[in-house]
Amino acid sequence: MFADNLFRDKIALVTGGGTGIGYAIAEQLLQLGARVYIASRKEEKLKAALEKLNPQGDCDYLVCNIRELEEVEAAAEAIKAKDGRLDILINNAGGQFPSLAEDISPKGWNAVINNNLNGTWYMTQTMAKAFFIPQKEGVIVNMIVNIYRGFPGMTHTGAARAGIDNFTKSLAVEWSKYNIRINAVAPGIIQSTGLENYPPQLVEGIARTIPMKRLGTCEEVAWLTNFLASPMANYITGETVYIDGGQRLWGSIFEL
Ligand code: ADE
Repeated sequence: MFADNLFRDKIALVTGGGTGIGYAIAEQLLQLGARVYIASRKEEKLKAALEKLNPQGDCDYLVCNIRELEEVEAAAEAIKAKDGRLDILINNAGGQFPSLAEDISPKGWNAVINNNLNGTWYMTQTMAKAFFIPQKEGVIVNMIVNIYRGFPGMTHTGAARAGIDNFTKSLAVEWSKYNIRINAVAPGIIQSTGLENYPPQLVEGIARTIPMKRLGTCEEVAWLTNFLASPMANYITGETVYIDGGQRLWGSIFEL
């Protein structure tokens, strides 16, 4: 479905692009002709990813903690200095930990809100002001999670991702005058490095709770994300697309 040169001459930034879903998105973008920046906090992970990605296309990395506005602004400056423009922002970086609501400390709550909601916001606003608004062109895809029925067991990230889901809609309306499209992808349970953060007993048997009886793959999430980033989705904005094998509609996600 994707032409080899779909993203030729496009500059893309994938946060959290060193591992898991972000890595798969970056790899596909490269294979489809984009020049790709991957950004993450840990330089070692970025270097290791770059070794595998660079033979497949034109890839660079930026060490950047999305929670720190100054680091996000520095990333925009670095892209400006090297390429002078940005076409695609994939806000994939994020993270959380399972916890019953009554056990979430103020520190834990704030860390998850900062990382997911504030970090994604800093990236979105900074890159829009640095590139998309003056260019009068840009595409943003925000990675959230399956929050269709709340997110019991991870209330903090559910609240943060619901905030992203909502600002995606607001910006789709406000920024359409700048020719900026913004959408979100809401994955269910995906076979990725992110799953390693959860206790095995939580993950075990989870496929049974999914109508399609299997976990999704990073590649499948990347196909959807890159479709939304592509001209094939030129009339889609303000949308959140679930990719969860039907899980949002049926069964429990995990035992509380
Ligand atoms: N991946 C997960 N959390 C991140 C953060 N705060 N900054 C960049 N990449 C991340």
